[in-house]
Amino acid sequence: MCGIVGYLGKNEKKEILLDGLQELEYRGYDSAGIAVIEGDKLNQFKAIGKLENLREKTKSFYTEGFGISIGHTRWATHGKPTELNAHPHLGAYSYVVHNGIIENYQELKEELQNDGVTFLSQTDTETIVHLFEKNHKTNTNVFSAFEKTIARLEGAYATLLITEADPDTIYFAKNGSPMLIGFNGNDVYFASSDTPIIGKATEVYYLEDGEYGYAKEGEVKIFDANGEKTFNKQTLATDKVAAQKDGYRFFMEKEIYEQSQVMGDTIIGRVLDDRIYFEELDKDFFEGIYAITICACGTSYNSALASSYLFERLGQMRCEVEIASEFRYKEPFLTQKTLFITISQSGETADTLEALKMAKAAGMKTLSICNVDNSSIVRESDTAILTRAGVEKGVASTKAFATQSMVLWMLALYVGQIKNTVSKDIVKREINAMLHAPKAVQVDDKLHERIHRLSKRYLHGHGFFFIGRDVFYPLALEGALKLKEISYLHAEGYPAGEMKHGPIALADSELFTIALMPKSMHYDKIKSNVEELSARDATILAISPKPFELADDFIQTKYDSHPMLEFFEMMVVTQLLALEVSVRLGNDVDMPRNLAKSVTVE
Ligand code: G6P
Repeated sequence: MCGIVGYLGKNEKKEILLDGLQELEYRGYDSAGIAVIEGDKLNQFKAIGKLENLREKTKSFYTEGFGISIGHTRWATHGKPTELNAHPHLGAYSYVVHNGIIENYQELKEELQNDGVTFLSQTDTETIVHLFEKNHKTNTNVFSAFEKTIARLEGAYATLLITEADPDTIYFAKNGSPMLIGFNGNDVYFASSDTPIIGKATEVYYLEDGEYGYAKEGEVKIFDANGEKTFNKQTLATDKVAAQKDGYRFFMEKEIYEQSQVMGDTIIGRVLDDRIYFEELDKDFFEGIYAITICACGTSYNSALASSYLFERLGQMRCEVEIASEFRYKEPFLTQKTLFITISQSGETADTLEALKMAKAAGMKTLSICNVDNSSIVRESDTAILTRAGVEKGVASTKAFATQSMVLWMLALYVGQIKNTVSKDIVKREINAMLHAPKAVQVDDKLHERIHRLSKRYLHGHGFFFIGRDVFYPLALEGALKLKEISYLHAEGYPAGEMKHGPIALADSELFTIALMPKSMHYDKIKSNVEELSARDATILAISPKPFELADDFIQTKYDSHPMLEFFEMMVVTQLLALEVSVRLGNDVDMPRNLAKSVTVE
């Protein structure tokens, strides 16, 4: 996830910016940059890769006296991690940094290009600075030009702009992406989260959506749709680690709560009114492709397995899913009519990478769905679609799974559209559901509290079975994987209909069954499977929009209109259950024993 810092004052600016960016490192980035205006001197530096590269580039640069400055760490979403795509973005005499996604950037870009503006980068951000300079041409008041610019932006943004036309002032705006202003005497700081300004600023104001304004020495003005606002500063917290977690107890918990935001980022520009759009895929990408093989490990495998139902149903395309470490040695029969997809959060998982190399060697077309641009798997694939989840710190993957599943759902519908296998009505139904997905994963505080209370009943026993049918079977696998990863209790995911073919022998009151019982998909079938277990005295925790009288415990979900919305809502329930059980058992939620976030060995 990108990070923003800004500083206005008399202290040395380069160090303040670089230190601030360092504090945002934990959020992940693949390039960084700073811009400083001091007097009428404008300086700008950018570097790809780690911040050390930027430090190296700026090692003989120092600032003195009053000035304004902005900095950014970029996590690539539109365009590769190159220096040209790194922020700050330059117009003719202004610089901008931005977090979020400008949804209407294509339209703005075309408009500006028609006016003769040349774009240097592939980013959506660059439109902001050119639009500002265009507005400034016709309106010499810098603030009005900035106001006019912000009014045209659609989507999510937190942005800072500096310009030689007004070299004492930082302009800012926030909508949908976080941004705060720090204060210490006449010094003013900006940042996308607390950590960069802790120890520097003493007070803070967290900007609200729709707020914008400007900062000069000793003067900060904030506006919204109703005009100028008065605002109250708060004392700034001092604990950096707590600040990194945004007030949550664990990174995993923060990441569960972040899912709504990142799901929104994942669909922006891809789910349009009447179709799915992937700028990453050429028009003829699926030409000559008649089947799909997906390879992945761990959580990524579970999202792949869920998507296989969707590729077959929506895309009418045969889809096989393989665990990468198995695929490598099975001497698979590979054909060039099959698209080979790898799914990976990190893009570095050794087994997945090697499977990809095998597919390439067999001449297959390859596509990766990954969270990290420029990772080995992305570089090795013909094409990549980024999941836009931002860095995931908790070893137990949550938001990566959510965004992978989302991208795969979109891709399945995309295939259906390209191959003409879905009706307009189905497209409409799917798109409507996709647009609701960010809401379906929003954590309801009451639900979290309920799962917290309920979790105390699930700290013992001789094991858990998570059961579901169709896409809820891979979700059951993922629910069981989460629980076992962080609670160290034995948990298994099973297709509900398969329980009677063996595992039901284990059923007794100490066997906990977590039953995923969606209303919109095979409800009666799963109900009879759960009844079979209940008859053998298994303890049942049912998760469903429909009350179920045989359940020992029941968590009622809200969505019941579309299986994928039920899928995502139930996903959150299983993640919170694993989290709360683990907390009660006193385990290290973010760094569970024996596990690594990225497994780069076979
Ligand atoms: C490790 C992690 C899992 C992850 C798996 C695949 O086992 O602990 O959380 O699902 O690797 O990782 P990838 O980065 O390829 O998705």
